[in-house]
Amino acid sequence: MTFTNTIIQFENVTKQYDNDSVVLDHVSFEIEKGKFYTLLGPSGCGKTTILRLIAGFTEASSGTIYFNGKRINDVPANKRQVNTVFQDYALFPHLNVFENVAFGLRIKKMKNADITIKVKEALRFVNLEGYENREIKEMSGGQRQRVAIARAIVNQPEVILLDEPLSALDLKLRTEMQYELRELQRRLGITFIFVTHDQEEALAMSDEIFVLNKGRIQQSGEPTDIYDEPINRFVADFIGESNIVPGKMIADFLVEFGGQQFECVDQGLNQNEQVEIVIRPEDLAITSSDQGKLQVRVDSQLFRGVHYEILGYDHAGNEWLVHSTKKATVGEEIGLYFEPEAIHVMRFNETEEEFDKRLEGYEEDYDAN
Ligand SMILES: Nc1ncnc2c1ncn2[C@@H]1O[C@H](COP(=O)(O)OP(=O)(O)O)[C@@H](O)[C@H]1O
Ligand SMILES: [Mg+2]
Repeated sequence: MTFTNTIIQFENVTKQYDNDSVVLDHVSFEIEKGKFYTLLGPSGCGKTTILRLIAGFTEASSGTIYFNGKRINDVPANKRQVNTVFQDYALFPHLNVFENVAFGLRIKKMKNADITIKVKEALRFVNLEGYENREIKEMSGGQRQRVAIARAIVNQPEVILLDEPLSALDLKLRTEMQYELRELQRRLGITFIFVTHDQEEALAMSDEIFVLNKGRIQQSGEPTDIYDEPINRFVADFIGESNIVPGKMIADFLVEFGGQQFECVDQGLNQNEQVEIVIRPEDLAITSSDQGKLQVRVDSQLFRGVHYEILGYDHAGNEWLVHSTKKATVGEEIGLYFEPEAIHVMRFNETEEEFDKRLEGYEEDYDAN
């Protein structure tokens, strides 16, 4: 028997509600024990559907779902080792804090004395000791959020599913709860699967992110990998701000865009292959026009507190967004400087497997060259 850390696995899972269009299209992924995962994607891409399939609230149309190595497609929701924190928290307004958290344990017919111990422990975990007798309506948004989390952890599930739990909170509370949730996951050591449409939230909180669009996983990986090496236009655009311009691969380590050729770290593509180029705004530095690698005429400029956001156009008509601590002058021509590593070359219709394979040898080969 081989040792595995995998707790949940989706194998070619497709979901179609009635005769409607396909909501999840051959989705495959693995979730490991004890990590913080995020499903990230725009509204309607299938995030909640994935959570519902894991929780057993809906059935897969085809494909297999495994939990701890066993097929669970036909296991009812109440027999699964998962608990869900819903978007609206779904607390019972007529029950106090204690009874909301105790609810699942009472259904399981646990002894009163044991229930008290478990509920108190769960409330301590979310910093709500002493709130046992409060009514739900007396609790703030952030406190309700914590009650919902206490209710999810009190059963000691192996996995907690969180469906956009922070989206109803204001920005400041939201940031606080991001820290709290991340910290709670570390202390509990159980698997969290968190859903959000907010890319900054996903980057800040996750060990692993699955980026979804239209019922398909576009890319999965650690936040820095996805940010630094987006697989396609959708991911580059959805995660952070990007400059995406058309380009052409001239040879290994040489790419053309904006009417010029540049040294890059990419290799193994076809000669003259049409590609898309991504450069992050913070990877562009401003120079005088003659010292830059690319010349851009400044169209507009905004001061953002930490940096200036400068927008300009190169001679080929491509738009360039630059984040710089230096100020530019609207109407003037400036130079842009960037390292070869800042250029990311994206192929059209590349699968995640092909993409990962292509990137594997890049750094060593480029350094050796
Ligand atoms: N019960 C349902 N019946 C029919 N279509 C549904 C149902 N639930 C969700 N959908 C559709 O499935 C798609 C994905 O929904 P959902 O998983 O809720 O997306 P997300 O959580 O990413 O916003 C949407 O187009 C939605 O309209
Ligand atoms: Mg949803």
